[in-house]
Amino acid sequence: MIQDNELALIIGRRGCGKSTLSRALAATFHREIVFDRMKETKDGIIFRNYHQFSRWWNDHHGDENFKAVFHLDSARHSEAFHQENDEILRLIYETGLRKTDQGLDHPTTLLLFEELQFYCTPLSILPNLKEAILTGRHAKISVIANTQRPANIHGDFKGNAHHVFAGQLIHKADIDYLKGSLLAEHATVCFSLPAFSFAYRSHEMPFTIVKL
Ligand SMILES: Nc1ncnc2c1ncn2[C@@H]1O[C@H](COP(=O)(O)OP(=O)(O)OP(=O)(O)O)[C@@H](O)[C@H]1O
Ligand SMILES: [Mg+2]
Repeated sequence: MIQDNELALIIGRRGCGKSTLSRALAATFHREIVFDRMKETKDGIIFRNYHQFSRWWNDHHGDENFKAVFHLDSARHSEAFHQENDEILRLIYETGLRKTDQGLDHPTTLLLFEELQFYCTPLSILPNLKEAILTGRHAKISVIANTQRPANIHGDFKGNAHHVFAGQLIHKADIDYLKGSLLAEHATVCFSLPAFSFAYRSHEMPFTIVKL
């Protein structure tokens, strides 16, 4: 459903099924990198810091299949955590860009962000995360990102998402964030959605309700 070089945003209150939907959507990608500060992703190769990853990436960035998962040791919201994530993203982004510039045909890499609010705020976004969502197509990067509090994430996500899935929401501020997205006037339906259902719209599909 998510094509190469697209951005999908998944939103909804705690336990509404965001991670389950994210994993289902990610399953069509063969090269997957998961940013999971809550350490809930149990499969894949687990990395605890940038240096472990950069050593591995050096040998494996051309692999056809992998699932790399970040359970970083640095404290969330700390400057070290932000710097480390930005370095990781820079490495992935620049590798993809270099291959594209060299005219090499290389497969797409999916970046999956669990709880996107750890990686940006309404007013700030990691420079290399911004690059990934704005110009990631040149580097052959797709992004799936989920969050329970969209009011706490950066506006670039709603503005650039090719797909928006929104489950149950309770806060008006979160509905207001969604009003600026593809869901537009349909956003208020999120106050009354049944469990595990998502309001969905893409740049190609009209508004609909989906359930896994
Ligand atoms: N479509 C579904 N049908 C039935 N159960 C589901 C469905 N989707 C998810 N669940 C179950 O609901 C629980 C919460 O799902 P999940 O972890 O995907 O939600 P979440 O929105 O990511 O939660 P959190 O906010 O805690 O990260 C899990 O036990 C999961 O197995
Ligand atoms: Mg989750």
